[in-house]
Amino acid sequence: MIGAQWGDEGKGKITDLLSRSADMVVRSQGGVNAGHTVVVQDQTFKLHLIPSGILYPDTECIIGSGTVIDPSVLLEEMQQLRDLKVSTENLFISQTAHVTMPYHRLIDKASEEKRGKHKIGTTGRGIGPTYADKSERTGIRIIDLMNTDDLRAKLAWAINYKNAILEKLYNLPPLNPETVITEYLDYAEQLRPHVVDSSLKIYKAIRQKKNILFEGAQGTLLDLDHGTYPYVTSSNPIAGGACVGSGIGPTVIDRVIGVAKAYTTRVGEGPFPTELEGPIEQLLCDRGAEFGTTTGRRRRCGWFDAVIGRYAVRINGLDCLAITKLDVLDTLPEIKVCVAYELDGKTCRHLPSSASEFARCQPMYHTLPGWEKPTSDCRSLDDLPEQALDYLRFLAEIMEVPIAIVSLGASRDQTIIVEDPIHGPKRALLDHNGSPWDAMTY
Ligand code: GDP
Ligand code: IMO
Ligand code: MG
Repeated sequence: MIGAQWGDEGKGKITDLLSRSADMVVRSQGGVNAGHTVVVQDQTFKLHLIPSGILYPDTECIIGSGTVIDPSVLLEEMQQLRDLKVSTENLFISQTAHVTMPYHRLIDKASEEKRGKHKIGTTGRGIGPTYADKSERTGIRIIDLMNTDDLRAKLAWAINYKNAILEKLYNLPPLNPETVITEYLDYAEQLRPHVVDSSLKIYKAIRQKKNILFEGAQGTLLDLDHGTYPYVTSSNPIAGGACVGSGIGPTVIDRVIGVAKAYTTRVGEGPFPTELEGPIEQLLCDRGAEFGTTTGRRRRCGWFDAVIGRYAVRINGLDCLAITKLDVLDTLPEIKVCVAYELDGKTCRHLPSSASEFARCQPMYHTLPGWEKPTSDCRSLDDLPEQALDYLRFLAEIMEVPIAIVSLGASRDQTIIVEDPIHGPKRALLDHNGSPWDAMTY
């Protein structure tokens, strides 16, 4: 299950929903930049690293090798769950995941400042610098934390190296190696009981024919290779990333589910063709409570972008979509969907690879009537106003992908399951139907 836009699509809610029939839930990329919200009755859980399946006591949850782990945040998150009487006994951490260190957080924030108007708008959680060290082969892995003697030497070297960067490049005070080493040795002991060979553990579950859900973090457009570079994160949130980041082969994945909001949001910098300004943007932000789960930043809001939607279908090989937050559109008299871009006087139907071209793209809209009725109590497609159904059909048609789930509120029950997203027939009621939009295809 992956995010089909720029993150915050409601993956936490959909993971929680799908976890009902999962024996294992795996996070395979990203770190504490993610913020996944799950609402269960009157309790709201905000998860950053721990898979949203943790709320089911029998579900095993894995933080896979492609993630980057900030132990201070992870341990705090584990404690918060235990305070709410949620067991963390079934939480397992990959020994080959990389560790976010204090210098990563400092460098993330300082380098953003240095970039000035070219900043990415990162979450400031040290994600980019942790992945950079992994690529540079100077990273510290969980397995290093487990070996106390080695860790001392490795950390002393790394901190000295990073202190030179902090002092000379960013004019920041150096870190005290002893303080950091003591802090991380303590984290290591607390995490030790949870550390496993996660690829092997997942493989055993596959051999036992268990249901495994891979919970994506971030979204397709934030993918390091296939997103809107350079305004992306430093991991691979696309479906292919699940294999690399958890150590499984692509042949074991049965179905790929994309999650998309009924409109679009984006946090941080970077082009966003359907971004709105004015009263409709304010309405989407207010009704959708569009403030970041991790940083509290206001999310930029705009109309649904089907060019991006089609791109997500292609890049991830989506079998079906979960459309979330349809209820947010309830009061609008009309709703727009971007069906193509105008780029330098020409119609452009595919996401351009060039950042400057993408920044020049102007949305071309198709306008649909709104339904102007509340939908959050609807529990089947028959309950939905005809215009809401038409809107969903339009999305399925233009993206050429069936819609399996419609979400109409943050709680578990505010959901319409159109088809079983895991086992169900490939054709759903909200299927595309030999689309009139085929003319614009490949
Ligand atoms: P994630 O990062 O993809 O898990 O999404 P976030 O949790 O960061 O943001 C989604 C927000 O929308 C959360 O506050 C959810 O509780 C909320 N949410 C999820 N689905 C729905 C929905 O269908 N309707 C409404 N109104 N809110 C929703
Ligand atoms: P979830 O899993 C939305 C964005 C940041 C920034 C860019 C790079 O909750 O959907 P980073 O700190 O990763 O180096 O920041 O990516 N970003 C997200 N936006 N949802 C997320 O996660 C995000 N994680 C990172 O805002 O633009
Ligand atoms: Mg989020």
